[in-house]
Amino acid sequence: MNRVLITGAGKGIGFATARAFAEVGWDVLSLDKEFAGEVIGERIDFDLRRIGDIPALVARLGQVDTLVNNAGVLYCDPIHAIPDEHRQEILAVNLEAPAALIAALAPGMKARRSGRIVNVSSVSAFTGHPDLWYGITKAGLLNLTKSWARALGPFGVLVNAVAPGPTKTAMYDQLPESRRDEIMRSVHSGRVCMPEEVAAAILWLGSACPEYASGTTLDVNNGSYPR
Ligand SMILES: NC(=O)c1ccc[n+]([C@@H]2O[C@H](COP(=O)([O-])OP(=O)(O)OC[C@H]3O[C@@H](n4cnc5c(N)ncnc54)[C@H](O)[C@@H]3O)[C@@H](O)[C@H]2O)c1
Repeated sequence: MNRVLITGAGKGIGFATARAFAEVGWDVLSLDKEFAGEVIGERIDFDLRRIGDIPALVARLGQVDTLVNNAGVLYCDPIHAIPDEHRQEILAVNLEAPAALIAALAPGMKARRSGRIVNVSSVSAFTGHPDLWYGITKAGLLNLTKSWARALGPFGVLVNAVAPGPTKTAMYDQLPESRRDEIMRSVHSGRVCMPEEVAAAILWLGSACPEYASGTTLDVNNGSYPR
């Protein structure tokens, strides 16, 4: 049986992704810092701000065939007044932890000459974002994706990203109404994406997409490029 590690699997896109992998018979490791309701597969309580503890965590997990770096945080601070602790948390959770997880899992994938990694970025990687560090980390994730795709490609390991647009989760609901209205005016369909739709894209990249697709970003944004 294949095993997938999904971060931020307690709710939202991560939870939908855990369910999608479980439905096609994968063994799921659901990691989060807090679980509110149902947990898919094995529950791993871990706060990704503990970057230094990631190698030890990975060492005790055993074989992971697919890693989904999904956990993320966003704050609605004014661009000129971002608290230092928010900047540090966003950098740690959105960028440093994914980088550390890839670094810790890469040797095993390389040795087995197989494995897949999917990083959950955002349309904001291309447009910028009012939460300055959120957008910066999401753009950084795409560069991380390309760098690891290059390093692991010769060993048969695929590294890709998805860049969702507005998706109906707690993160989206926390946005000010004015911003949600602006985003809704930009999407082709006039509706918000459902977490299951992003999960289907992650499942495909993490299990079935052609092996020649690596270092790419799959946009799931429906044209959501707000000014
Ligand atoms: N919802 C959207 O509109 C949208 C759009 C583009 C990209 N994304 C990205 O999709 C991913 C999932 O977002 P979502 O919308 O499901 O958000 P969400 O807030 O519903 O879920 C995020 C999950 O990450 C977990 N998490 C946060 N900090 C953590 C930490 N320190 N350690 C472990 N887990 C932690 C949370 O507990 C939560 O379960 C994020 O990377 C987000 O940036 C979301």
